[in-house]
Amino acid sequence: MLRIGPVELASRLLLAPIAGHTDIAFRLLCREQGGVGAAYTDLLNSRAILKETSRTLDLARTNESDRPCGMQLYGNSDDPLPEAAVWAIDHGAQIIDINMGCPVDKVAKKNGGSLLLRDCANTTRLAERIVQAVRRHAGGRVPVTAKMRLGWDPEHMVAPQLARQLADIGIAAVTVHGRYTVQFFSGSADWRAIARVVEAVPEIPVIGNGDVTTPEDAQELLATARCAGVMIGRGALRTPWIFRQAHALLEHGAAAPEPSIGEKLGVVLRHLELAAHFDGETRAATRMRQHISWYGKSMGHVKPLKEAIRTAPDLESMVRALQDARDRFQSLNAPAVPASRTALGGSAWAESGDFSKRICP
Ligand SMILES: Cc1cc2nc3c(=O)[nH]c(=O)nc-3n(C[C@H](O)[C@H](O)[C@H](O)COP(=O)(O)O)c2cc1C
Repeated sequence: MLRIGPVELASRLLLAPIAGHTDIAFRLLCREQGGVGAAYTDLLNSRAILKETSRTLDLARTNESDRPCGMQLYGNSDDPLPEAAVWAIDHGAQIIDINMGCPVDKVAKKNGGSLLLRDCANTTRLAERIVQAVRRHAGGRVPVTAKMRLGWDPEHMVAPQLARQLADIGIAAVTVHGRYTVQFFSGSADWRAIARVVEAVPEIPVIGNGDVTTPEDAQELLATARCAGVMIGRGALRTPWIFRQAHALLEHGAAAPEPSIGEKLGVVLRHLELAAHFDGETRAATRMRQHISWYGKSMGHVKPLKEAIRTAPDLESMVRALQDARDRFQSLNAPAVPASRTALGGSAWAESGDFSKRICP
């Protein structure tokens, strides 16, 4: 399978960090669907970590079912990244990841994220300090990885050179999103360019990333870049079951079948249940209002349902709208698949709508 330093992953597919989405509830949801090799927290500010702000504690929350969990840190050479890495290990991280790809002003303007791609020598020194602090603290048990883009712009394609320098100072794996910073999310990810990084660092795994939305995409990215693993971001926000499907394709030659709409709605209900468990009903409802359009993209024409979720005053009405929609689809779809199949996300709670019977890990 895939090995990152001493950490063995049961699958070559990883859930990407997606700020605002990949909290513990969503990570567990994807893991329950099957096929996830590792999952990452949103990016965490190193100073906020050490202050233990309530927002950062929420973002860094993990538990025994959320393994292996990578915590992603961002900052620059003046920030306490080595200390934050030690904190992350003490709070449940099995992998420490350094963000070198975020193009958003809030991060890049503070010299973190993608700005690290502009000064490879300085970035390598920073990474070395983190690697050394982690080694001193965890004795080689916790690998440090980096997630980067190809470079700032096409004139500065630094990823192969930077990955080489990072491998030399002990970085255990690199993830490469096949776009440049100036592209943000426009155009398409260049999977062939990721192959150049693979060639530069034959001794460590390279995880390819960008635009994987189907199991076949994952297979094609692995073949094109000859990388060791695939990280999926936006595709997972639409279809958290993509890991199970892609894993089946990679390991057994045939993708697991597409869930029915009834099953997909069971997954959405399970997401709500997990979010309510970890964040309380009000925040769970807010999260779902933000997330439902992603799910909608995987379900065809569900505009009325999306509208019902966005305007639902509370979690209870949201659950009812989802249950009604699921019942309608199941009566239309033959054969109906019982949404209580826990492997696909249904649960006694989602079935009954009884908020006193939450079943959570
Ligand atoms: C809304 C949003 C938030 C993101 N947040 C992060 C983040 O916190 N850390 C990070 O390394 N990348 C972040 N990314 C980038 C993704 O991890 C991933 O590299 C990118 O979306 C390309 O992969 P995809 O095509 O599978 O989505 C974010 C992307 C999006 C769309």
